Amino acid sequence: MKLQSDFSLKSYNTFGIDVKAKLFARFESVPELQELLKMPALQQEQKLIIGGGSNLLFTQDFDGVVLQNSIKGIEVLRQDQEHVLVKAGGGEVWHEFVLFTLQHNLGGVENLSLIPGSVGAAPLQNIGAYGVELKDVFYELESVEIATGQVRTFSHQECAFGYRESVFKNALRGRYIVTSVTFRLSRQPELNTSYGAITTTLEEMQVQQPSIHDVSAAVCQIRRSKLPDPAQIGNAGSFFKNPEIPVQLYNQLKEKYPHMPAYPVSEQVVKVPAGWLIEQCGWKGKVIDNYGVHQHQALVLVNYGGASGEKVRQLAYDIIASVEEKFGIRLHPEVNIM
Ligand code: EPU
Repeated sequence: MKLQSDFSLKSYNTFGIDVKAKLFARFESVPELQELLKMPALQQEQKLIIGGGSNLLFTQDFDGVVLQNSIKGIEVLRQDQEHVLVKAGGGEVWHEFVLFTLQHNLGGVENLSLIPGSVGAAPLQNIGAYGVELKDVFYELESVEIATGQVRTFSHQECAFGYRESVFKNALRGRYIVTSVTFRLSRQPELNTSYGAITTTLEEMQVQQPSIHDVSAAVCQIRRSKLPDPAQIGNAGSFFKNPEIPVQLYNQLKEKYPHMPAYPVSEQVVKVPAGWLIEQCGWKGKVIDNYGVHQHQALVLVNYGGASGEKVRQLAYDIIASVEEKFGIRLHPEVNIM
């Protein structure tokens, strides 16, 4: 719980941006966090809570205190014939939690294998991949209110989950720290292999009746082939959200771009893959000095080493401008730009 000053954040953000925090402390339990929040030296400081730092782009030094959630532990709370409630500390590495569920033969998060980041950060943006979102297995979470240090539990409904959204990114932004998350997992899981690439990969793996282990292996294989490993190349996963546009606009665009992909959201709205839009604008694989756009997935911006966050942000703005000019669609970052 030691308070450190002038602390390098380079290894605390997966983009690998070399900035400093005025103050930094790590907490391993709820009481430790509550003590930190009471410290007079921290009262007036701007606070940033980080988990794995996998959804952040720092563009400057942080003039405040960075608090890193290191609350560990995974435990089974309750179970019946069909479901098991599993509680995981906010500081657990997300994929370690996925491995725990696989070891215990509990279904629900196998499609979310290998997503970088921590358990505590997962509900904030309702992480999702290959047809599954965190909200599908979420039961409740525990948090601490920054202003008062009080513990508060949030139900599914109170979290107001949406596509890469939750109440913690909107009405309650910056007010609560997620200390643990409880998941409702299945003993007899219904597999979700509807996402095209999973079916194809399972076929390639010659799996006839897939288990959660097979689905996880397929997801890991797809991710490794498309997405850069942050341990090797700095990145924060998808930099932008996939935009939702009116069907009417989509139909107009489709006349000009007949191959434009889209997925239905409602009768009036479709979601367009931002990666496709960015690729059409010629950005895919672009390298500028030591940063650029990933060669296998145009939605991912990368730092090949030593890039400044400001430069990466400028690249993101240039991409937004060119997509808007070509398609009349405005992209929005998924990553938190600080
Ligand atoms: N596409 C391209 N060019 C590209 C990338 C994508 O044309 O460079 C088009 C293709 O048509 C492709 C389609 O986009 O079929 C979908 O691509 P992909 O399956 O890679 O998924 P995505 O929509 O680009 C989303 C999530 C990812 C998640 C995948 C798989 C968002 C913002 N991103 O990407 O999440 O892994 O689906 O479910 O929703 C993340 O959030 O960090 C993340 C990696």
